[in-house]
Amino acid sequence: MLLSESESENKFNLTPQPENSMQAKNTTPAKSNSAILATNLSKHVLDVTNKVGTNKIEILNDLNLQVAQGESVAIVGSSGSGKSTLLALLAGLDVPSSGAVEVAGQPFSTLDEDARAAMRGAQMGFVFQSFQLLPTMTALENVMLPMQLANRKDAKQMAMATLEKVGLAERLQHYPKQLSGGEQQRVAIARAFAPQPAILFADEPTGNLDIATGERIIDLLFSLNQQANTTLILVTHDVQLAQRCRRTLTLFNGALQHEALQHGQLSAI
Ligand SMILES: Nc1ncnc2c1ncn2[C@@H]1O[C@H](COP(=O)(O)OP(=O)(O)OP(=O)(O)O)[C@@H](O)[C@H]1O
Ligand SMILES: [Mg+2]
Repeated sequence: MLLSESESENKFNLTPQPENSMQAKNTTPAKSNSAILATNLSKHVLDVTNKVGTNKIEILNDLNLQVAQGESVAIVGSSGSGKSTLLALLAGLDVPSSGAVEVAGQPFSTLDEDARAAMRGAQMGFVFQSFQLLPTMTALENVMLPMQLANRKDAKQMAMATLEKVGLAERLQHYPKQLSGGEQQRVAIARAFAPQPAILFADEPTGNLDIATGERIIDLLFSLNQQANTTLILVTHDVQLAQRCRRTLTLFNGALQHEALQHGQLSAI
């Protein structure tokens, strides 16, 4: 895909760009306009499998990212480059070794686990790469759960409507082990999508889907983005999905690269 100079600069930049404003182009958006602001984010873990001594594995290294409310950002990178780790830090599922994450201009990564969980429950949806459905609950119960925890009276109605949107109206009472990988993935998407969160994180949301079903899911994600101004932060190897996002950023050597691959090359990742 060929991009004009301004489009490619926009898509491959690490900070969001206001639309149709040359003057405002190089201006950092006001903090309050940021859905997510990650500053000098580093994550390292100790390699406990190393019997000789403790080996530090650097996963993310001094990474910066700013995402505006209502933006859609695709994060790409080779397997093991740290994409899932980054998403977990941005959503407060894990804490950075150093650096910080702010959500809507408020400190987030420095909150304790309960406070992060409360904020995540109120504002975020997360589609895990491994789905993380509760095995003892049906598809419908899995999708209802986050809304029930938020005391939403319309939990059942919203869950049913969303499961229908992802093509699973006939699978409401099935348990995860009775569903195919792609069906489980769609339940996981419905669970994150149904509460209409302000920010939706999804880790390879179309990884187990055929092209037609994947397109349906992509349309669903972007309908939320357009109708509810939901911020989308998506990890993906899916060229079609990355192309629909406003920006594509490549994770390499622990940081996000300005010079992302052209969309046509993404299939090589
Ligand atoms: N707790 C941990 N202990 C040791 N290594 C870890 C730990 N968590 C992550 N890693 C390593 O960090 C690297 C990044 O992992 P991550 O899951 O973020 O990669 P990814 O980009 O999402 O890969 P994929 O595309 O395969 O899903 C990997 O090499 C992984 O083995
Ligand atoms: Mg991953």
